[in-house]
Amino acid sequence: MGVEDLRTLFLFEGLTDDQLAWIAARGWELRLPEPTMLFAEGAAAENFYVLLEGEIQLLKRTGEDDVVITTTSHRGVYAGAVRVFVTTDRPDASLYGNTVRTTGPASFFVLAGTDFGWLMREWFPMAIHLLDGLYLGWRNLQLQTRQRERLEALGGLSAGLAHELNNPAGAAVRATGTLRERVSGMRHKLGLLAEGRVPAAALQRLVTLQDDAVERSAKAPRLPALEAADQEDKLADWFDAHGVAGGWDLAPVLVAGGLDAVWAEELAATVEPQLLEGALRWIAYTVETETLMAEIEHAVGRISTLVGAVKQYSYLDQAPEQDVDVRDGLESTLIMLGHKLSGVEVRRDYDESLPRIPAYGSELNQVWTNLIDNAADALGGRGTLTLRTSLEEDMLLVEIGDDGPGIPREVRKRVFDAFFTTKAVGKGSGLGLDISQRIVVQRHHGDIRMESHPGDTRFQVRLPLHRPTAA
Ligand SMILES: Nc1ncnc2c1ncn2[C@@H]1O[C@H](COP(=O)(O)OP(=O)(O)OP(=O)(O)O)[C@@H](O)[C@H]1O
Ligand SMILES: [Mg+2]
Repeated sequence: MGVEDLRTLFLFEGLTDDQLAWIAARGWELRLPEPTMLFAEGAAAENFYVLLEGEIQLLKRTGEDDVVITTTSHRGVYAGAVRVFVTTDRPDASLYGNTVRTTGPASFFVLAGTDFGWLMREWFPMAIHLLDGLYLGWRNLQLQTRQRERLEALGGLSAGLAHELNNPAGAAVRATGTLRERVSGMRHKLGLLAEGRVPAAALQRLVTLQDDAVERSAKAPRLPALEAADQEDKLADWFDAHGVAGGWDLAPVLVAGGLDAVWAEELAATVEPQLLEGALRWIAYTVETETLMAEIEHAVGRISTLVGAVKQYSYLDQAPEQDVDVRDGLESTLIMLGHKLSGVEVRRDYDESLPRIPAYGSELNQVWTNLIDNAADALGGRGTLTLRTSLEEDMLLVEIGDDGPGIPREVRKRVFDAFFTTKAVGKGSGLGLDISQRIVVQRHHGDIRMESHPGDTRFQVRLPLHRPTAA
């Protein structure tokens, strides 16, 4: 292409004859008769293309698909190695930032990326400074956005946790309400028993039976529904035979507390017939209150475990850097992500002899969170998550594996890129692995790797056992 032709392209406006001659001498024309892919996103940026004729489409990879961003037949539009001139450290500047293809016959004026970079730096040094400045501004903006996104992720985590806390809290509140009713019922029964002028010895015996019932109910196994129904029937029949009214509502409570017809027989031998029903109700109340209290204890225990996990997870009131046991971090992370792991089997393969390592505990937990979160997404509620820790010379290895579908080959090399995600809009920000890599490599001088086959994906994090000596 000659100097005069080049002058017709808006991009080369204002260049001197010498400059145009230089470009004309170095560049060449490319004719593509068929629709062709000119270059692919992520490949090494070799050439700079200016459209002369035809139509091109610019595509950007989002998730697993290339999405058409623009289609144009505007003569003079350019694409390709457009960023090779940057002087700031931008590893991605040497790669094609998108994919370009032609839709039919087309022709281009092509300049090697190296030549383009050279002419930009030589002829437009001030423009380069301005572009660098713009880039830095853009990068800062991106970092802030990232910070925000992380906060949002944390918001997601607390939403999950709130949900986790809500179940036991609700259960405790409900059980407490029922317990209050039962206790007042018991007070009432006590009055009735006293009115029946139960002899002291019989009362004594009743208290013993009550203790016995409490003990049994604490040990009572949870019966399969069919078996429980069967025992309830037998007990209700026994009640009928012994003239105890309302046996049908007493039976389930007693059976749940591990009390059956055999036990009722023992009770009948102890109390006088006219007191039998009162005594039975009295014990049923006892058993029920025991069950309710156990429920409350369980629920409150669960709440306290969760709160403990949050404290452990966030390293609340602890120094940011300290000697940490990575297993604690993994365990608290599992609890934090519990709601995402239901249906997933968690297998632990921890090396018990593992030493503590100097680390930023809460940041490491972010790494475990991102990796386990990804595995949980890949598993989608079934399959196995494997957590493994071991020693490897002077490094500690943490491996998080899943038997999900795996990471397709073409996705593998990009998973650690910021904003790279294959998840639906609003589901993944594509930052999890980028941030994890930063935390492991920059903050801990460790390294993070990935291996993936269908049914076996492993993320391996290696962390130094000792603080690096100031060299
Ligand atoms: N265990 C895994 N199995 C299959 N694919 C995975 C796994 N871990 C990561 N990936 C792939 O790597 C991509 C990038 O993961 P990354 O954690 O960086 O982002 P994300 O999970 O998409 O979004 P988020 O910012 O919410 O974590 C995922 O979109 C997914 O395609
Ligand atoms: Mg993720």
